[in-house]
Amino acid sequence: MKKTFAMLLALSMIFALTLSVPASAADTLTMATSPDFPPFEELQSDGSVVGIEVDLLNMICDKLGMELKIEQMDFDSVLPGVQAGKYDVGVSGISVTEKRQKNVLFTEPYCLAAQAIVVNTGSDITGKADLDKKKIAVQTGTTAESFCMENGYKVSSFQANSDAEMALVTGKVDAWVIDDLTAAEMVKAYNKDHPDALTILDEAMTTEPYAFAFAFGSEDLVAKINEIQAELIKDGTVAGLFEKFDAPYTSPISE
Ligand code: ARG
Repeated sequence: MKKTFAMLLALSMIFALTLSVPASAADTLTMATSPDFPPFEELQSDGSVVGIEVDLLNMICDKLGMELKIEQMDFDSVLPGVQAGKYDVGVSGISVTEKRQKNVLFTEPYCLAAQAIVVNTGSDITGKADLDKKKIAVQTGTTAESFCMENGYKVSSFQANSDAEMALVTGKVDAWVIDDLTAAEMVKAYNKDHPDALTILDEAMTTEPYAFAFAFGSEDLVAKINEIQAELIKDGTVAGLFEKFDAPYTSPISE
């Protein structure tokens, strides 16, 4: 009898211990990202994701007392996943557009970017005006894709940026339109092994602000993040993150 009691006691103690593990769900911010976008988010060989936006979100989470969890996917799944409530925030060098604002709630932008035109060195394309009737590679679901389609260019879409780049170097397309800082990183990496193979043209296609995307209903959290982010822009922390990743910073706030 005594033995049974002792056993029951031990069992109930084990049970209580299991229950006392804190449920962290409420303190976790799950970010959806396509980590093929250096210097903003890039997959490392050990499976981790690093970049300016990962650092920035980690800083914001620290101030909120939350823990950042990263979920990887193709770019065109990021915004639908956030909208459906599968993830808390979309973080993927996402440009704010009027169309997207109908489906998700954006934070204030933290930087400005542009769409760059990349060509094979020596191409007869030297600016936007030469792109008519040329075939352009873009990433599926991006503003590069919608801009080029809306403006009547011939477009080839690829799930991964690396495949769009491959289409250009193998001559399947004439140009590749992609965000400027990512273009700079990817072209630098490619040209390291293939000197001077790719050229980024001076003329950009568009200018766009980057922000983080939440589902409607997250207004309170977004307001808090905007406050923290404004401080991090003002005190130079955000500019410092760009410097850390060797990228030029364009503030969205005009002085
Ligand atoms: N800024 C562009 C857009 O919002 C491209 C973003 C692509 N991001 C990525 N992680 N591949 O559509």
